[in-house]
Amino acid sequence: MSKILIKAARVVNEGLTRTLDVLVEGERIAAIEKNIAITHDMFVIDGSGKHLLPGCIDDQVHFREPGLTHKATIGTESKACLAGGITSYLEMPNTNPQTTTAQAYADKLAVAAKTSWVNYGFLFGGTNDNLDEIKAIDVKTTPGLKLFLGSSTGNMLVDDPATLKSIFTAFKLPIAVHCEDEQTIKSNLEAYMDKFGDDIPIAHHPDIRSEEACYLSSSKAIALAKETGARLHVFHLSTARETNLFGNDVPLEQKQITSEVCIHHLWFSDEDYAQKGTHIKWNPAVKAASDRAGLWEALNDDRIDIIATDHAPHTLEEKDQPYTKAPSGGPMVQHALPVMLECVKQGKISIEKVVEKMCHNPAILFSVKDRGYIRPGYFADLVLVDTEQEQTVTRDNVLYKCGWSPLEGTTLRGVVTHTLLNGTLMYEKGNIKEAYCAKPLTFTR
Ligand code: DOR
Repeated sequence: MSKILIKAARVVNEGLTRTLDVLVEGERIAAIEKNIAITHDMFVIDGSGKHLLPGCIDDQVHFREPGLTHKATIGTESKACLAGGITSYLEMPNTNPQTTTAQAYADKLAVAAKTSWVNYGFLFGGTNDNLDEIKAIDVKTTPGLKLFLGSSTGNMLVDDPATLKSIFTAFKLPIAVHCEDEQTIKSNLEAYMDKFGDDIPIAHHPDIRSEEACYLSSSKAIALAKETGARLHVFHLSTARETNLFGNDVPLEQKQITSEVCIHHLWFSDEDYAQKGTHIKWNPAVKAASDRAGLWEALNDDRIDIIATDHAPHTLEEKDQPYTKAPSGGPMVQHALPVMLECVKQGKISIEKVVEKMCHNPAILFSVKDRGYIRPGYFADLVLVDTEQEQTVTRDNVLYKCGWSPLEGTTLRGVVTHTLLNGTLMYEKGNIKEAYCAKPLTFTR
């Protein structure tokens, strides 16, 4: 049956929530109206009492393939996306080999074409010595560039000022950056290692990967973008101070400098290190409750444009090591949307704003074609959620290859009940349809 009718859901789209029917024909949305008549050729999904959202577009995930597949694969993590209502992702280049050449890029796309459960795109990686490769990027099929301006998993630090300036000048698509000042981190780490050796208490992570490290690096990147005219997107803000570097005076479409916040920086604070330990060790670090409050404020007043996950799985064995050895990062795609629905319940954000930041804005920022909205003619990437149902995250119900979640033990008011991908009902109440229908994202340029 190639027609699906979602009946009487509360459709959240473009700032409004209205009770409507949505008709899907083939891969695309055919109509969004009140009271669409049911015909014999339609498969009907009862949306009453539920909210229907556009599928989320996560602009920052690490799926570890190729080379780090003991942690995760494109197949395993994108399956978790389906269950979490994330229907498209942009994946990061810090794999092995790194995605810093045309060949590595093509190889990754080929793996995704065979094994990804949701729509996919890949950021190309910049290094100190691949400017020629960057200049040769096909702008029609590439969403943008990723630069590590602070070191993290994968040794991809870009720290040569002349190279940075050349990249910022030459590259016209979004340049997404990880901002943490390397020198500041290094000297902080040395001081703490002198005191504690390898086993630094995790609570000092935000003192080492400090507010100052974030602010210095973000402000330098912004200054360079202003000087060169680059289209800069600063990933994973973690401090209140940095939010003041971003504006809300023009619509996203006109911004040259934008920012993202991640679920973990909105959910956790330094008070959680005592219980969660290195399981909430991320780069940049989860910081003070006052930073978290500042991030919420900037998200709600549109200085922050996008909510993402920075889904970055490591095995439990790797994470359960002393501070200096435990890698940074944790998995999140399965529960990112439910966390935000819980935050809606707590009155921290409206559901319309969640849709703006997780669905519409990533599509605008990366010029994703025909996705991110519930509009006639757009791909039917749709998520039905029940905001009255609860779920508790446990080690038994996570789908990630690494088999754990930083949210274990957390109860969230919000459950994804159905996920449609390119017009196919791929996920329904815990069951995943065993057939691929994902597509590469395309971009309007
Ligand atoms: O915590 C992090 N982990 N931050 C990053 O920027 C990279 C990521 C990873 O790949 O493990």
